[in-house]
Amino acid sequence: MRIEPLAGCGALIDDVDLTAANDGEIAAVRQAVFDHGVVFLHGQKLGPEAHIAFAKRVGPIVINRYFPRTERFPEIAKVEKTETQTTNIGGGWHTDHSYDAEPAMGSILVAMETPPAGGDTLFANMYAAYEALSDGLKATLGTLRAVHSAAHVFGAKSAYGAGDQKALSGHSDLPESVHPVIITHPGSGRKALYVNPSFTLRFEGWTAEESKPLLDYLYAHAQRPDFVHRFSWKPGSVAFWDNRATWHLAMNDYHGHRRLMHRITIAGEALS
Ligand code: SIN
Repeated sequence: MRIEPLAGCGALIDDVDLTAANDGEIAAVRQAVFDHGVVFLHGQKLGPEAHIAFAKRVGPIVINRYFPRTERFPEIAKVEKTETQTTNIGGGWHTDHSYDAEPAMGSILVAMETPPAGGDTLFANMYAAYEALSDGLKATLGTLRAVHSAAHVFGAKSAYGAGDQKALSGHSDLPESVHPVIITHPGSGRKALYVNPSFTLRFEGWTAEESKPLLDYLYAHAQRPDFVHRFSWKPGSVAFWDNRATWHLAMNDYHGHRRLMHRITIAGEALS
């Protein structure tokens, strides 16, 4: 198995078949996710059963409350945009499940059907974003916690509800959770920036208006091109990312074509 670090964010893994990997290879994939934030593999054969079997080898599965599910496999969320839809899922920078008290460790996304061109996913490296901050700002952020919620994304007033991905809107189980702004990653021991443009509402004890200028600064900083990798999918490609160490954004540049991805989310833990 070869692990090749990529510029910006992530690593490419080849010479491993995820359906036949031994325990050592599974452990190495998991550690590579912790260390590089996301790993990419091409040419895998992760149909639904194999996808679930691989996911269970890396951690317990957590079922996303808001995404449509595949018909036969509740563990698998369907990330789909059809030929006639114009809104895609995950089209803004975010990290999955930061609105939960114990945010998901990671997500394993498998490309089932890809458009002839476009439909890439961008990943941004939150270790690098943290490390590039000044010592002064690192120290200030180290004293702050932030409030996260999905109410505006998946609730009654969600933008998804106004468009053609209505199944994602109108949900009512929408908790607020509070996490440190700088976390120490439980699997790598490294510090990472843990706020994101989709789900972070404000700093704890600050108003949204007070929080906005500093959050906007951090969001612009964290999506600098030198922290980002753009991944192009083919059917059979897999991305396994760590939600504590990366953000991601799905490009919406393939209108008129179908893109279908299967996503399984792996449970995480409270962050400190
Ligand atoms: C997601 O945000 O989980 C979906 C990413 C993608 O479809 O590329």
